[in-house]
Amino acid sequence: MKTAYTLLLCLVMFVAKAQDNKVIKANMNKVRLEFMLDGNGQPNYAVYYGDKAVIKPSAMGFTLANDTPFDKDFIVTGTEQSSSDETWKPVWGEVSGIRNHYQQVTIHLKQKGTPNRLLNIIFRVFEDGVGFRYEFPKQTSLRYFIISDELTAFNMTGDHKTFWIPGDYDTNEYPYTTSKISEIDNSELVAKSTDIAVRIAPDKYAVQTPLMMKSADGLYINIHEAGLSNFSAMQLHTDRSKFSFTASLVPDAAGNKAYVKTPFATPWRTIIVSDKAADILASKMILNLNEPSKITETSWIKPMKFIGIWWAMQTGKGTWSYSNNPDTLDSNGQLIPNGTHAANTANVKHYIDFAAANGIQGVLVEGWNVGWEDWFGNWKENVFSFVTPYPDFNVKELSEYAAAKGVHIIMHNETSGSATDYERQLDTAYRFMNKYGYTSVKTGYVGKIIPRGEHHDGQWMVQHYVRVAQKAADHHVMLDAHEPVRPTGLQRTYPNWLACEAGRGNEYNGFSDGSKPEHETIMPFTRLMGGPMDYTPGIFQIKGYSTVPGRQVHTTLTKQLALYITMYSPLQMAADLPENYEKHMDAFQFIKDVAVDWDDTKILEAEPGDYITIARKAKGTSDWFIGAITDENARNATFSLNFLDRGKKYVATIYADADNADWKENPMVYQIHKYLVDEKTKLNLKLANGGGAAVSIKLATDTDKGLKAYK
Ligand code: NOJ
Ligand code: CA
Repeated sequence: MKTAYTLLLCLVMFVAKAQDNKVIKANMNKVRLEFMLDGNGQPNYAVYYGDKAVIKPSAMGFTLANDTPFDKDFIVTGTEQSSSDETWKPVWGEVSGIRNHYQQVTIHLKQKGTPNRLLNIIFRVFEDGVGFRYEFPKQTSLRYFIISDELTAFNMTGDHKTFWIPGDYDTNEYPYTTSKISEIDNSELVAKSTDIAVRIAPDKYAVQTPLMMKSADGLYINIHEAGLSNFSAMQLHTDRSKFSFTASLVPDAAGNKAYVKTPFATPWRTIIVSDKAADILASKMILNLNEPSKITETSWIKPMKFIGIWWAMQTGKGTWSYSNNPDTLDSNGQLIPNGTHAANTANVKHYIDFAAANGIQGVLVEGWNVGWEDWFGNWKENVFSFVTPYPDFNVKELSEYAAAKGVHIIMHNETSGSATDYERQLDTAYRFMNKYGYTSVKTGYVGKIIPRGEHHDGQWMVQHYVRVAQKAADHHVMLDAHEPVRPTGLQRTYPNWLACEAGRGNEYNGFSDGSKPEHETIMPFTRLMGGPMDYTPGIFQIKGYSTVPGRQVHTTLTKQLALYITMYSPLQMAADLPENYEKHMDAFQFIKDVAVDWDDTKILEAEPGDYITIARKAKGTSDWFIGAITDENARNATFSLNFLDRGKKYVATIYADADNADWKENPMVYQIHKYLVDEKTKLNLKLANGGGAAVSIKLATDTDKGLKAYK
């Protein structure tokens, strides 16, 4: 339940007819927003952090299809200022209470000339940044219209270091490039792009958000958006010589960017800023800009860990499909089994047994339903049925078996991009889940979107993902969406939408050359700014799972443990095979123990592209868990445990890289030690190249008395 106090301070400070060239200001501690109209009557805004400019005066507005542009000749007809300070409780999260403290300025604009169209711009200024949105009030002269372009610019103050992925309308599963703004360039990718599942935007200089930057004078700046539920996603076109970005909305097949009916408000454009990288990771601005939960009774929403019949298929040890050929049937008219189908009743029971024995709540089963024979590359309608199991998957027997063991089977609905087909099947699919006791579903949108010509990140699909979340909520089903648009904090509004993939997950180490060791030190500053990621950590068999020479996970084993803390998600997979965990039950203990829902989070150290150390307190307990990761360079993570309760003794179990560990040469060697610690302890964790460390901290009991104190 959303509770706590709501304090609306000095609401509506003034409504005034402002002078057109007047600078309107609002600030919150170090962050200052300025708004002004330029000489052409075009809205402009600027953002400052202390005495440093973050965003230089930058243009705002739109062009409309077959209509006068909505970008200049404005006059300010009035402004309203208010402030708000409330604390709300997320259903689940990194902290148990979130303070939402901001100054709001609403600018009322009128476009001169006939027919005097109206536009409002709403700014919210927080201690950690600025959010703004456009509001098109209800007006007779602007009722239904099409946006051709959003003109919002983000003029940076210099050639910042930037962590970016290319502006692709359909996927964000790219490794990050670190370069100066002036070096952003997708030419190579654009040249290679053919009409496959992954299509690059026809803009060599487009990048996606969340876009993370660092200025030469030490400011960390993150640009993204919040509350994307009814519009197309905002990518950014780079002007490399001016160090400037302009909004580039993902189009539909006709090239239109968004269809609007007034009254309408766009998503919030967000600029998070600090002189400390840790503050970027601690920011709750994007969540705060989202609407409160639309789900009132939330007791059925439960974060969990899960294992799955998944990595075996990702690494070629089993198949999703039951048969090799959809066209050849046996004399009874049945598909001919290929003998490699992984989601068979006996194998699923084996996974359920392993989950039950180790306190893991969920088992994801992919490849249980008909359609996998010819789904890939076959971007058609009616490929999958979401209620028809393969003959060797006994849905009733398995749901009873799982229930008896207290385990939930996680439903899998791969749509192969056929979103229209999925919408037709949603009711029956979710009724089927309710009937067989499935409490959560992983969806997938691999491939080309049907209706043809829509993009994964366009307005139509953005609305589709929300419809699915709403429908899932109606059926008390929790959602984990793969290949959707990247998240923008909608988990506040739809807390049953626990996680998304929407980025380059650990799976790339399974079926490709993988990601560099720095990848996980960038993701929290980029993809995870909008919401939790189903990254699928926990691969223990770092090498030797693939027949392709050189293919391996690009971390040490203990870095995989640390990811349970540094890659926040209320749904965390233990992604490796049970038999690989069985070889390392001492290290697996961390995965068994680690929580997925938190009362508190401390970002202890962070630098994008280099390292991250985070401590989290498990919800409703006194247990703390710490994850520390580094990029390809070894380092020592040194930090104080001063967040522990004063005067209490705790036992810290430290899972660390062995002295000779190295992600490439020797990734699976680790050491586990237990010590007594308290709030005065300083930990010094040695992280190997591409390594990491995980620590679990519990209150000491009498039996721990003999343990050594950490020194
Ligand atoms: C890609 C998803 O990321 C992966 O998790 C899933 O197994 C496959 N698609 C098949 O749906
Ligand atoms: Ca680095």
